[in-house]
Amino acid sequence: MFSCNTTYFSLKTLTFAQRNKNNKTQSHRYMEKKFKRTTVTSALPYANGPVHIGHLAGVYIPADIYVRYLRLKKEDVLFIGGSDEHGVPITIRARKEGVTPQDIVDRYHTLIKDSFKEFGISFDVYGRTSSSIHHDTASQFFRTLYDKGEFIEKTSKQYYDEEAHTFLADRYITGECPHCHAEGAYGDQCEKCGSTLSPTELINPKSAISGSKPVMKETTHWYLPLDKHENWLRKWILEEHKEWRPNVYGQCKSWLDLGLQPRAVSRDLDWGIPVPVEGAEGKVLYVWFDAPIGYISNTKELLPDSWEKWWKDPETRLIHFIGKDNIVFHCIVFPAMLKAEGSYILPDNVPANEFLNLEGDKISTSHNWAVWLHEYLHDFPGKQDVLRYVLTANAPETKDNDFTWKDFQARNNNELVAVYGNFVNRALVLTGKYFDNKVPSCGELTEYDLETLKEFANVKAEVEKLLDSFKFRDAQKEAMNLARIGNKYLADTEPWKLAKTDMPRVATILNISLQLVANLSIAFEPFLPFSSKRLRNMLNIKSFEWEQLGRTDLLAPGHQLNKAELLFEKIEDNVIEAQVQKLLETKKANEAANYTANPIKETIEFNTFEKLDIRVGTILECQKVPKADKLLQFKIDDGLGTRTIVSGIAKHYHPEELIGKQICFIANLAPRKLKGIVSEGMILSAENFDGNLSVIMPQKEVKPGSEVK
Ligand code: 2FM
Ligand code: ZN
Repeated sequence: MFSCNTTYFSLKTLTFAQRNKNNKTQSHRYMEKKFKRTTVTSALPYANGPVHIGHLAGVYIPADIYVRYLRLKKEDVLFIGGSDEHGVPITIRARKEGVTPQDIVDRYHTLIKDSFKEFGISFDVYGRTSSSIHHDTASQFFRTLYDKGEFIEKTSKQYYDEEAHTFLADRYITGECPHCHAEGAYGDQCEKCGSTLSPTELINPKSAISGSKPVMKETTHWYLPLDKHENWLRKWILEEHKEWRPNVYGQCKSWLDLGLQPRAVSRDLDWGIPVPVEGAEGKVLYVWFDAPIGYISNTKELLPDSWEKWWKDPETRLIHFIGKDNIVFHCIVFPAMLKAEGSYILPDNVPANEFLNLEGDKISTSHNWAVWLHEYLHDFPGKQDVLRYVLTANAPETKDNDFTWKDFQARNNNELVAVYGNFVNRALVLTGKYFDNKVPSCGELTEYDLETLKEFANVKAEVEKLLDSFKFRDAQKEAMNLARIGNKYLADTEPWKLAKTDMPRVATILNISLQLVANLSIAFEPFLPFSSKRLRNMLNIKSFEWEQLGRTDLLAPGHQLNKAELLFEKIEDNVIEAQVQKLLETKKANEAANYTANPIKETIEFNTFEKLDIRVGTILECQKVPKADKLLQFKIDDGLGTRTIVSGIAKHYHPEELIGKQICFIANLAPRKLKGIVSEGMILSAENFDGNLSVIMPQKEVKPGSEVK
């Protein structure tokens, strides 16, 4: 018969065979060409606000999974992060708060860096673009291109604030949107209708600095002539990188098909890296010119003597993790800059994600519509892996996705707790109970054992194939499959029932289960590093390597395990309701802030008003109208007798809340039939900004039938 060891050899063969088969179907270059090392960058977030789940899901978790995977495989990899500390929004925020832009970026750089650390985003370096090393690097980069004649210089007319003596960046100009006519649209975008604008399209433009009307004035800037780069970019992307994600490839194609235009790489602004050219006083490098160079500066900061091989050696693979709004800059503009410089490699892949929404609405920093990482850490201490898991399970890889607290709870309770945690716990607790926490020996294997092992041997090749092609969501699903296999195996073999009659069989079942548990800690390591570490502690193992995944001899018979702990815990309804409530309050506050009253109706004469007979009545009875979910039927004491009124406020009041109360009603309105009931008047109410109705009541009790005047 079979023993665990023979299984191990046959499994190993199977794993390799499987892998070879998969290799043949892999089209990407990574599999065909051997690279020596990989440089992984993740978009540098703007240091003008905290980071939220959208950032984590879109960029940092996938990048971290990928890097951890490569490190586990013992590959040479460098993971670059950092803050993007230039750009107009930072200066706007500083001005609003009455502090300097440096104060703003100092505050948020630290907050963001700490949040990433807490979530286990394992950067090798986390730099910042206000650092002197970055200023020098970006400045030199510009100068090299300038000296090579890679820029064109153009003079054009732009808005200028004569009171503040400054040119106005697009964001500094506000006015009426030419499309939806909302006030307060910015020179680059209307936030009300989402249209992209240019400042000259705004109706009645105003300077956001002084409030004055800006004038047009000539200014000179340097432009990167992207049109000159179009041919090689077309070939490089459209022919040589067909393997890029369809969303990335598609966006590049539409930019290229529209035809590329020269892009200004400088701005009139006093925050940023001064343009290193004589006569360029008051001009800085455009934030999107300096930010990607930040990846290079941060590498230099970490490896002052050996940074070049990570950026210039053709045997280095460069991967940019970004969100979809950054595609053009990383696939077209930055490659054109690198190519123009001449000594750099180009990105091999740019696995950009789509957006993550929150409870059906777009995440928005300015509207506080987000789950902020520092707040999550406060509300869910120790549950970093739960969020990592949920955000990967729901990763917006191919389309925008939605984060909901209900889904968060369900994935925690039904997957992490009920599948992964439950299997681990059962295997460890049973080993404690029957074998004093020592790994039992494996005896003969049944056909069913072999079937289970075969199923799980496939997982390694499958997870690798998916991770190599940046399909993190499916890769994590595959890892979870391992726990499902384990759970099913324990449920089918029921070792607890065999304990009295067949201990050698119990030993075999638990040996296999424990090997599966050890495999889970490897398979989940890139995704859930905190839980894998806890699991290894329980298994009393210091570390595993990726290559060990799929093996059935990870834990030797007799190996002493530590006490089992719960890997995940259930999240109760009240915890989730509190989060939902918090968002509802944000929504209310936003609606209140956005609320503007309807315009006043046309003027009427006093005698027209006098025709209205508005009275106070006391509610004697109130009930729901059958088969009409909006209507309540009232019996009102109107001072002369009683009358019936039907009113559409059933969604806003329970009948018992209103009985005995005094309300205002129009007493001389012609009777109307509603759902077969004759309504003799109309109860007055007012609408809140969120659509809730509030009945108008006299502030003190008055006689029923009193006239309102
Ligand atoms: O979109 C953003 O948040 C930018 N700060 C990303 C910059 S990525 C890179 F170029 F630095
Ligand atoms: Zn608009």
